[in-house]
Amino acid sequence: MRHLISIDDLTLSEVDELIKTSYDIINNPNNYREKCKHKKLASLFFEPSTRTRLSFEAAMLDLGGTYLGFSDSAQSSATKGESIADTIRTVSLYADIAVMRHPKEGSALRAAEFSSIPVINAGDGGHLHPTQTLTDLLTIHKYKGGVSGLKVGICGDLKFGRTVHSLVDSLKNYSGNEFIFVSPNELRVPDYILETLEKNNVKFSQTTNLDDTISDMDILYMTRVQRERFFNEEEYIRLKDHYILDKQKLSLAKSDLIIMHPLPRVNEISQEIDTDPRAVYFHQAGFGKIIRMALIMKLLEVA
Ligand code: NCD
Repeated sequence: MRHLISIDDLTLSEVDELIKTSYDIINNPNNYREKCKHKKLASLFFEPSTRTRLSFEAAMLDLGGTYLGFSDSAQSSATKGESIADTIRTVSLYADIAVMRHPKEGSALRAAEFSSIPVINAGDGGHLHPTQTLTDLLTIHKYKGGVSGLKVGICGDLKFGRTVHSLVDSLKNYSGNEFIFVSPNELRVPDYILETLEKNNVKFSQTTNLDDTISDMDILYMTRVQRERFFNEEEYIRLKDHYILDKQKLSLAKSDLIIMHPLPRVNEISQEIDTDPRAVYFHQAGFGKIIRMALIMKLLEVA
C-alpha cells in the first residue's frame, strides 16, 4: 500500500505518468467516469481549505466514487482529545483512501503509520503539500512544455509556505532548474531546504527585491503570507503587503512568463493582473482536480 506524504514518495517517472494520465483525463473524461465506482474517499480537514478539499471531493465524484468526512476539526472527535492514530484507525474501517489536512507538521506521516488505507497529505502545518506540487507541475508542464531548464522565481512567505517547500523539493530533481527566492528576511526559505539544493548542486539566489529580479524569471510563483503560522499579529501586519504584483512590476517581466499562485490570494497579486494572459493561477486551480483524479487512481491501483 502506498501513501503520499512527501513528493519524494513518488519517483520522477511516476510523476511523469500522473501528468500523462492527467492529459488523457482532460481529453477523454468519459473513460474515467466509473474508475472508482463503489470506492470511498475520506476527506479529513482539520484546517480550512477551499480548493484542495473541493478538488479532491470533485475528483472522487468524477471517478464515480463518493466521499465522506469533515471540513472542520470542530466536527470531529479531535475536539474531545482523540489522537490522529485512533482517528485514522477508525476511518480505515469506513473508507478506501483518505486525504488529510492538519495544522501539525508530521501529522500525515503519523496517520500513515496507523492507517490500513492509503493516506494523502493535503498539508501538514507549515511543512509540506505534495498534491499542490502535482498541480503545479501539471500547470508548468502545460504552459512551458516541460518541467526542466526553468528559472523559477518564488515570492512571499517562503518560511511557512508549505506549497513552496514541496515545489522546491520536486523541481530540484529536474535538470537545469534555477531558483530565485524573493522574500523579506524574516520569511526566507528554511535552511534545511537550501542545504538540499547545495547538496544537489542546484543554483539559487536569495533577495528581498522583486523589481530587480522579475525580468530573469520564466515562472513567478507568488504566495500569501501565512497569517495562521505567526505567533505575533503585529509581525504579520508588518509583513503581509511586502510584495504586491501589479501592472507596473509586471511590465518588467518576460512576455512568456507564467504567474502562478496556489491560492488563496490576499493582496499579493493585484486584481488588474487577472486578465493578463500570463496569469495562470485559476487554470492551475482547475488542474488540481485533474491530477488528483490521476493520483487517487494510482493509490487505489485502479487501471
Ligand atoms: C495553500 C495551502 O493550504 O498551503 N492553499 C492550497 O492548498 N491551494 C496555500 C495557502 O494557504 O496560502
